[in-house]
Amino acid sequence: MLPTLLISSHELEEGQSKGFIINGTNLFILRHQGNVVAYRNSCPHRKVPLEWLPDQFLDYDKQFIQCATHGALFTIEKGLCISGPCHQKSLTSLCVEERDEKIYCTIPEAPEAPGA
Ligand code: FES
Repeated sequence: MLPTLLISSHELEEGQSKGFIINGTNLFILRHQGNVVAYRNSCPHRKVPLEWLPDQFLDYDKQFIQCATHGALFTIEKGLCISGPCHQKSLTSLCVEERDEKIYCTIPEAPEAPGA
């Protein structure tokens, strides 16, 4: 699997998040403390997308990733649920890299199976 170019680095500012659907994989990236992280856009509770508006994955204070459906909160660094119905479960992280002012993500070949 080759890394897929998502966007240029300047298109993702500190505290911003963006969603993508690539080859059937729903994912999002966000920049936190200068670093970029990527997760599947699928809540471990009900396997639904997390965002409440397009590209809005963070809570009001931009301290946690938040699921819009039942309000679960996940740490940005590890995707671990610290509050909500999927407590102690984690988002699925994806391999992301930033080089030459561009952000790339390695997309798994198979989309996550429903209910997995
Ligand atoms: S679907 Fe995300 S907290 Fe219930």
